[in-house]
Amino acid sequence: MILVTGGAGFIGSNFVLEWLAQSDEPVVNLDALTYAGNLDNLRSIADDRRHIFVHGNIGDATLVADLLSRHKPRAIINLAAESHVDRSIHGPEDFIQTNILGSFRLLEAVRAYWSGLPDKSDFRFLHVSTDEVFGTLGPDDPAFSEDTSYQPNSPYSASKAASDHLVRAYFHTYGLPVLTTNCSNNYGPLHFPEKLIPLVIHNALNGRPLPIYGDGQQIRDWLYVKDHCSAIRRVLQAGKPGETYNIGGWNERANLDVVNMLCSVLDELQPRVDGKRYSDQIAFVTDRPGHDRRYAIDARKIEAELGWRPAETFESGIRKTVRWYLDNADWVENVASGSYRDWIEKQYA
Ligand code: NAD
Ligand code: DAU
Repeated sequence: MILVTGGAGFIGSNFVLEWLAQSDEPVVNLDALTYAGNLDNLRSIADDRRHIFVHGNIGDATLVADLLSRHKPRAIINLAAESHVDRSIHGPEDFIQTNILGSFRLLEAVRAYWSGLPDKSDFRFLHVSTDEVFGTLGPDDPAFSEDTSYQPNSPYSASKAASDHLVRAYFHTYGLPVLTTNCSNNYGPLHFPEKLIPLVIHNALNGRPLPIYGDGQQIRDWLYVKDHCSAIRRVLQAGKPGETYNIGGWNERANLDVVNMLCSVLDELQPRVDGKRYSDQIAFVTDRPGHDRRYAIDARKIEAELGWRPAETFESGIRKTVRWYLDNADWVENVASGSYRDWIEKQYA
């Protein structure tokens, strides 16, 4: 048994679906179902007895202690978080509550549970974090390695950095066997359409502008979500407690290039009815405050020590992603309308 937090979100739901496709080990899935959590993501496993969904908060110490003593997981994968940088700029409070205080309460509950285990060294607490904690790179700087110092620039990245530091402290102070992963930008199926790639696909298909912040020359390092999931599984299996692992696919791209590529794939797979090109919808808008210019992950450690490699190239992953959004218009419609929640809650009532 493993306990996954945030398993109704983008990466979490992909992780749970992949986990159950590859193993018979059951999963307890603890998720607060914020605006970003969506049970619809998990509908294909709604009747799977290996999946135990629990609607609740990682900061609820009583609930977490009860789940731990009842299900006795051998590992926790902590994905629950507020994850959107723009929201953290407009309202940081929820980020402090969940990413810092929530992670702290979770760690405390896990520490109490772990201290009573007969085989303490077999347990793992795997904390899923981000490359944004390292700050921003100049054009010629080397990519972020595990030794790069933390320099978070947004409330989101600062809150993730704080949780990473707490996780590290629980290893050094209490000996809790922790693993931390710092991954680059994910994309793929089930991505909430507020983030660049799903937003652009959704807006393009609905005839709306495709907003590019600033000059569009900011660089992100993209990884297909299922490759992130395989990396997490590999770190859980073979990572060394107390270590951190950077995860990325050596895929640096400028935002404008990403959007143009999405437009070309859409032109091919679902051409506009008026014969024009989707790139005609591109609109340059005011930049994000404090916008980090460049992220890049040096993934040599996880490749050399754990033998992990991504399966998708950016081209193959983007094509799969666009195809998925075209084939799952109902999912997008439900998420975008907001009415999905009432409907889907009834399915699980
Ligand atoms: P997401 O916003 O899509 O999903 C977050 C999930 O956490 C949602 O289901 C939400 O309901 C749940 N949640 C939020 N607050 C909670 C709380 N207090 N208690 C329980 N559940 C709560 O995020 P995502 O993009 O899937 O990211 C998952 C994790 O991976 C985050 O920790 C994020 O920082 C990290 N990460 C994301 C990316 C990326 O590109 N998306 C890259 C690197 C790391
Ligand atoms: O690097 C990992 C991080 O990637 C994760 O930790 C975060 O949880 C995740 O949200 C993501 O953060 P970003 O801010 O990089 O992702 P986002 O999709 O919001 O933006 C990607 C880039 O595109 C960024 O440079 C801002 C830009 N952008 C974004 C949006 C939503 C635009 O130009 N226009 C937009 O409308």
